[in-house]
Amino acid sequence: MAEHTQLIDAINIRTSVRAYDKDPIDEDTARQLSMTLDAVNMLGGLNMQLILNQPAVFTAANESGHLTNAANLIAVVGPKDDPEARERAGFYGERAVLTATLRGLGTLWVGGSWDRAEAAKHCRITKSEELYLGIVIGHPEHHLTYTSTSYAELVERQRTHRPTKSYEQFTAGMTDEERTAAPDWFRAGVEAAMKAPSGMNRQPITFTYNTADDTAAAHIDPASDNGVPFNDLGIAKLHFQIGAGAGDWAWGDGGLFLHK
Ligand SMILES: Cc1cc2nc3c(=O)[nH]c(=O)nc-3n(C[C@H](O)[C@H](O)[C@H](O)COP(=O)(O)O)c2cc1C
Repeated sequence: MAEHTQLIDAINIRTSVRAYDKDPIDEDTARQLSMTLDAVNMLGGLNMQLILNQPAVFTAANESGHLTNAANLIAVVGPKDDPEARERAGFYGERAVLTATLRGLGTLWVGGSWDRAEAAKHCRITKSEELYLGIVIGHPEHHLTYTSTSYAELVERQRTHRPTKSYEQFTAGMTDEERTAAPDWFRAGVEAAMKAPSGMNRQPITFTYNTADDTAAAHIDPASDNGVPFNDLGIAKLHFQIGAGAGDWAWGDGGLFLHK
């Protein structure tokens, strides 16, 4: 896997990991992850924190067998009552997920499979902030086998591990003619977004391309509300941006992407 070091490589192999080995995250990796969090917290106005070795946060999920050996998490903390901050949390939290993926770690966004109150005890949360979500992080089960698995095989696992909406569903607001006329970077962006995690795999984000001004737009599909639409919007926008190669988003439902 060593030669695959780009964020697009991480997108191509990432899947949610629900079973972990007991081995702790080593100090060097923890420092690297914390540095990533410091940087994206600054960019996103967030307060994400790496919380190590707190298995009590996952007692129920580990006991039921839904998770195995979950013990570490990124606590996704940000400003209260601010939908745009939740979108930024999705965007920058997923950025940390992709960094962790490139270091051979497994991750899982959690809205339900954790004890939020227990997690909050181990976080620094000011009065104007709240704990939005968690991201479980750790060595995937049998990680020595996992890290020696070829990139091609991991790509194949990612491609086949779950159902996905089709490209046409992801671009539901477009006609066939508009799809054909859209540039390659748009298609590559949508295909990267199709590989993104989303709450309950609802994949609630769609994209459109506007020929007149050469922009893309991202939309929350009101028909597939899963409780975390703004977080999913941010995650999908990050994947799209990496897939498209270069460019920037405006925040918000309906926000525009300008390709560079
Ligand atoms: C915001 C968010 C919350 C999630 N919460 C949970 C959860 O509580 N429990 C769980 O098992 N998976 C959870 N997931 C993981 C999704 O089920 C998973 O991303 C989706 O099924 C797609 O699979 P993939 O990530 O392997 O591509 C969550 C994902 C997101 C983005």
